[in-house]
Amino acid sequence: MVLIKACLVEDVPLNGMKAVSILGRVILVANLDGQFHAMDGTCSHQFANLALGSRDGFIIICPLHGARFDIRTGKVVQGLSHEGRVNDLRAYRVEVVDGCLHIDM
Ligand code: FES
Repeated sequence: MVLIKACLVEDVPLNGMKAVSILGRVILVANLDGQFHAMDGTCSHQFANLALGSRDGFIIICPLHGARFDIRTGKVVQGLSHEGRVNDLRAYRVEVVDGCLHIDM
């Protein structure tokens, strides 16, 4: 377990999402009803920036082809309607320390 500072708490507004870069990885951080969640921020299909996607509850919807991921687990909950492979992403534990969000990498 390595906690790495990602951003300030206020950088991720209530029910908003933000992409942060940590150790060369893009991580999507979301503030869902005051609870912070994080998972890989790049879609496993064709590498879209998931921070540009939309959200339905805990489900993040890829802006390119609509794959859906549960930000709590990183798991694909709906793949593609056409040919193509979408793999699960990695989810991360988020801790608030001194007004900053830290991601457990
Ligand atoms: S790039 Fe995300 S579903 Fe295609």
